[in-house]
Amino acid sequence: MNTFEHKKYRAFPPVSMPQRKWPDEQITKAPLWCSVDLRDGNQALIEPMTPAQKHKMFMLLVRVGFKEIEVGFPAASVTDFDFVRYLLDNDLIPPDVTIQVLTPAREDMIAKTFEALKGARRAIVHLYNSTSTVQRKHVFNLGRAGITDLAVNAARTIQSLANGQPQTEWVFEYSPESFTGTELDFAVEICDAVTGVWKPNETHPVIINLPATVEMSTPNIFADQVEWFCAHIQKRDAIIVSVHTHNDRGCAVAAAELALMAGADRVEGTLMGNGERTGNMDVITMGMNMYSQGIDPELDFSLMDEIVKTVQDCTQLSVHPRHPYAGELVFTAFSGSHQDAINKCLAVREEGSPWDVAYLPIDPADLGRSYQEVIRINSQSGKGGIAYVLAREYGIQLPRWLQIEFSSKVQKQAEQTESEMSGEMIWNLFKKEYLATGFSATESHFGEANAGGDQYRLNHYNIRRQDGVDSISAGLEWNEKVIDLEGQGKGVIEAFVHALSLRSGLSIIVVDYNEHAISAEKDQGAKAEAIAFVQLNINGERISGVARSVDIIEASLAAIISGVNRSTKLGQLLVA
Ligand code: KIV
Ligand code: ZN
Repeated sequence: MNTFEHKKYRAFPPVSMPQRKWPDEQITKAPLWCSVDLRDGNQALIEPMTPAQKHKMFMLLVRVGFKEIEVGFPAASVTDFDFVRYLLDNDLIPPDVTIQVLTPAREDMIAKTFEALKGARRAIVHLYNSTSTVQRKHVFNLGRAGITDLAVNAARTIQSLANGQPQTEWVFEYSPESFTGTELDFAVEICDAVTGVWKPNETHPVIINLPATVEMSTPNIFADQVEWFCAHIQKRDAIIVSVHTHNDRGCAVAAAELALMAGADRVEGTLMGNGERTGNMDVITMGMNMYSQGIDPELDFSLMDEIVKTVQDCTQLSVHPRHPYAGELVFTAFSGSHQDAINKCLAVREEGSPWDVAYLPIDPADLGRSYQEVIRINSQSGKGGIAYVLAREYGIQLPRWLQIEFSSKVQKQAEQTESEMSGEMIWNLFKKEYLATGFSATESHFGEANAGGDQYRLNHYNIRRQDGVDSISAGLEWNEKVIDLEGQGKGVIEAFVHALSLRSGLSIIVVDYNEHAISAEKDQGAKAEAIAFVQLNINGERISGVARSVDIIEASLAAIISGVNRSTKLGQLLVA
């Protein structure tokens, strides 16, 4: 028998709702957020958080801006009970933050929950029981009425214990757990029965939380369920509709987003989506999605590296390098065409204008990330990225024709080493290929690399101008000999190329020439320098040369010599 058998499964039934409104809605403001990192997230860890880790995580959640934080399941865990007491006894809960605790629909556990919360200024008691068809049938062996009785009795116990602790401002929350597997009419029926006990009003609303305990359908069906629920629940104005999506199908964020469009007011989730199985809804992704649409998420993720570090320290789980917004590689482009587009967009970007950069949905700087990491080089990278790295790190603006030539050399090295090329590796390759040639050993900026004797070097030169024509006399060093050259032309470059042609008998044409002052110099300190790039055609062979110097004429002449040295044609011809 084939073990990979799709016929074992059934399609999730759609909600019949031809008048659905949510597809035309837009998210325009942040929901009420509730972090469940310390409860749902914690319950899913291989090693649940220690008290110190819980404290660290709580402080982070407060800093990020959560106003509601589910801090534990005190009736089920001694650590959680003690942690709630620790927060309260040490007055660690800021005045604008409300802690939330989870309780099952069991009298003894509800009593324990209230004991944990003694003395709280304000607290949310979160009651849940499972309502799905599968759990009613196979886990509880109860019909709808039996399940409703459990919820209603628990709601009564909660109300009565709350009445006994009037110094606390109580907020109640009810979750028909496994809502996604519950018939919608029953979900509404049981929630109405619970709110019938708690009697909320607009000033004292209750929270009804609709969990996708298991994500069972496409997010549009979840949105239908939420819209249907909102349309049929009684006392809608006295109810904060919350959603709590899990990520079994990988759509927890999308489901929560569509749920907001369908009428939900509140969202529960965790940082980076830690939680049972494939996790809870990732609040960072959802919040940053809003941010990228110009909506204030009312949570501050600007210190993303710190958030990532704390979450990793507390959960002992690593963050995937491609995790949306938070991963190490999410603002990095390796592909040549992407690098090129990013490079061009960043170059024309004006400070204060709306963000409009290809391949970067948000500005990495908003999350404390730098532009430095946007473009990284491997064998997939193209000329734009390589040029960007040289410009960013060494102030070198490669002309386009040289970008094309040099990128193939970088790619070749990246392929050979099968690794990423750092800025320094690219620069070293560039120096070795073009710059380590052209000057006399004594004057060289790259003395060691120039020390060999089998290449031409500029020893001296003299220029005279008469009637618009430049005449040059120059000496080239070669193996401790000096070769004298004479030539004329319009401008120094033409004159020098003429001198080389005369001496070698070869046709030498300057195809392209560029120069610029070097702005940022890693390699040479603050010394002001110019760099010259030349592309020569030597008897049909195109060859590039580059040199830099504090003197622009010297840089130009040395760039031509660098090209001559790189040419297979000239070789030792000048000496002959
Ligand atoms: O996923 C879930 O259903 C829960 C409930 C307890 C809200 O975590
Ligand atoms: Zn959950």
